[in-house]
Amino acid sequence: MPKWLEDAVFYEIYPQSYYDSNGDGIGDFEGIIRKLDYIKDLGCNALWLNPCFDSPFKDAGYDVRDYKKTASRYGSNDDLKRLFAEAHAKGIRVILDLVPGHTSEEHFWFKESQKAEPNEYSGRYIWTSHCFEGADGYSFIGGESPRNGTYLLNFFKCQPALNYGFLKPDKPWQMPPDHPGCIATREAVKDVMRFWMDMGCDGFRVDMAASLVKNDDDQKSGAQAIWQDIRAMLNADYPEAMLVAEWSDPERSLRAGFHADFLLHHFTEGGYRTLLRNYGGSPGHVSLEDDRSFFKADAPGDITLFLNDYLPKYEKTRDMGYISLITGNHDTIRAGYNLSPEELKIAYAVLFTLPGVPFLYYGDEIGMRYLDLPTKEGGYYRTGSRTPMQWSPGKNLGFSAAEAERLYLPVDPAGDAPTVEEEAGKADSLLNSLKAVLRLRRSIPELNAQPNLGILYAEKGKLPFVYRRGSLVIGVNPSGAQVRAPVNIPKGKPIHAIGGGRLEGGICTMEARSFVIFKEGTDR
Ligand code: NOJ
Repeated sequence: MPKWLEDAVFYEIYPQSYYDSNGDGIGDFEGIIRKLDYIKDLGCNALWLNPCFDSPFKDAGYDVRDYKKTASRYGSNDDLKRLFAEAHAKGIRVILDLVPGHTSEEHFWFKESQKAEPNEYSGRYIWTSHCFEGADGYSFIGGESPRNGTYLLNFFKCQPALNYGFLKPDKPWQMPPDHPGCIATREAVKDVMRFWMDMGCDGFRVDMAASLVKNDDDQKSGAQAIWQDIRAMLNADYPEAMLVAEWSDPERSLRAGFHADFLLHHFTEGGYRTLLRNYGGSPGHVSLEDDRSFFKADAPGDITLFLNDYLPKYEKTRDMGYISLITGNHDTIRAGYNLSPEELKIAYAVLFTLPGVPFLYYGDEIGMRYLDLPTKEGGYYRTGSRTPMQWSPGKNLGFSAAEAERLYLPVDPAGDAPTVEEEAGKADSLLNSLKAVLRLRRSIPELNAQPNLGILYAEKGKLPFVYRRGSLVIGVNPSGAQVRAPVNIPKGKPIHAIGGGRLEGGICTMEARSFVIFKEGTDR
């Protein structure tokens, strides 16, 4: 386990939209380099960049055309290398987005594998053995290639699935995972990882990590074996490298060798979605009436809906690695869609004081809003969460010097769209509130990633929610009324507060809309 993860706080950057340094309307590596001091000052010490590789961008770069070449719109490989070096000089780690499950249909490997004549890449993707033969339960495409067969997709039509085999092959064209063709795919991915590690990157967020082996069992033992093999390579050659999975099943992903896993629940009830409400899903999937976020001041949701999902996962994995909570990501509706800045202050304070390795999505620190926009680069409903970062009032909100029509996506047109500059200048802003929590997390080891969580009071439909991290007691009350609860800790002294609260005589009293960290056992 890389030691640096213990106090890592990640910042996710969608490179298209962060900062345009050369006035062409789209973000770039140099733009990120110029904002490293901002990121450091914010309190983040690690970056996750969404795919920044050569791509036709039919899925915002998750359709990779060349794994070893950056997309020229962001800069060259050397520019990315410089970004690694400049970030490291400021104590910031950088992980890239690895997309091992599929490539773009324009990738050289795929073009070769489409050929009728067998060649080195014929087994790199999953082909059936006849142009009219379908693949039960999988999406497939036929009629596009000289090769007599149809090929499986992993996501959109532009993303043919790479071949890692079938755990239980039941057709002649299905290879077992230990087939030389499947091993070659795995080795090719390792080669890509080594390429970027050698250039200075610090690890990878892995896209659809559970999807590699088809016909896998419920435990996903096929996918696990592959990641265990990849992790062994990292352990041997790059022991500081970190792997975080998009898997959403920490028990399985951490066993597979990942250091952390996101808790995503795109379309299901309960779990993380209930914490920040609208996690995953389009506005059409989750109506505002359905809003059951724990942090709504007028009608707070039920914290036990989150805990019932989270705690068993946390308990089972606490000795294996970390759960990564997020403020949102490039696939979710922004948290600011339904939570006000005041509500977000408390939400973020909780998120960043729970164990694990947390991730902040760019712009969430100022409460950027979800915009209703037409789809861009395969974004569909996700496009509204991918708009340019809002740096300062004025032209393009400081994102770019280009004319507005040339921007990758429009900036938030609202007169009161929040910006970093304005938020930084207001003592009680969301940005400053989050910075204070992150400062505290950095300065008190008990608040870092370690598994020292205890629940002191969490009752169905009741408030406050009170938990502990080592000797710290944390009370949360998103509602508009004072609440109190017995917590079995005689007394504590507030060391950090949004709103107010007391811990006396074994009772935690929380004022309306409050979040308080108490140091146990000391007088007020
Ligand atoms: C998950 C990524 O987060 C998403 O943006 C992408 O469209 C799919 N995987 C396919 O790669």
